Amino acid sequence: MRCPSRSGLRRERLSVTGAGPVGPYRLVRVGRGDLDPGEPGQFFMLTPPGHVLPRPMSLCLAPPGELAFLIDPVGKGTRALAALGEGDEVDVLGPLGRGYRLDVGRPLLVGGGIGIAPLPYLAARLGDAPIVLGFRSERHAKAAALLPGAQIVVDPVLVTEALDPSRDLLACGPEPMLRAVARIAPEAQVAWEAPMACGFGACYGCVVELGGHLRRLCLDGPVLAGHEVLAASDVSERAAAA
Ligand code: FES
Repeated sequence: MRCPSRSGLRRERLSVTGAGPVGPYRLVRVGRGDLDPGEPGQFFMLTPPGHVLPRPMSLCLAPPGELAFLIDPVGKGTRALAALGEGDEVDVLGPLGRGYRLDVGRPLLVGGGIGIAPLPYLAARLGDAPIVLGFRSERHAKAAALLPGAQIVVDPVLVTEALDPSRDLLACGPEPMLRAVARIAPEAQVAWEAPMACGFGACYGCVVELGGHLRRLCLDGPVLAGHEVLAASDVSERAAAA
């Protein structure tokens, strides 16, 4: 049974309660208002100051009264979000999408790069689950401070070399990593992070082909079964190949 996708969905303008660096990323905390944190793996749409289009962000942590998001400042919008400071305000819509199933017997959390973003909240909800994280540099690996006790590998070692495929894998990271995890464990739960313009099914900007049907990742994902990701083809790739 997947998590409900629209439960508790609200939009609010929230105040930033704090922000700070985590390796090359930035953790931005906002007052929760009346927003529901939702399930791990669900996401929120945050509108950067001075921008029209919001950006999808997995919930990283849900401390009492707050929501926290891990931002990778790689573009104009994410740089604007990363520049938020205490007392600033930001529009937040969520929770959105389908999160991880938590009814797993022997979980192993697997994250790569900024894909570790949903894992702290997932780890808090699951309790004492082991964690394997992969990063492309020691500088990026500093973000593992968000997940104390995690096993860390750094490029050229791959995270897939360090995981136990007999466990229930819950993964998030770049698409090549997700596909590698899915090849090892087709039943793994993998969060496929894709560009999203609306987050709630209106724009069709996140469409992928799953099982022969065009599906919107913001509604049917971002958490999918590994075998679904292996069988999926991106519409833009198919168009380019046509
Ligand atoms: Fe708009 Fe999915 S992001 S339909």
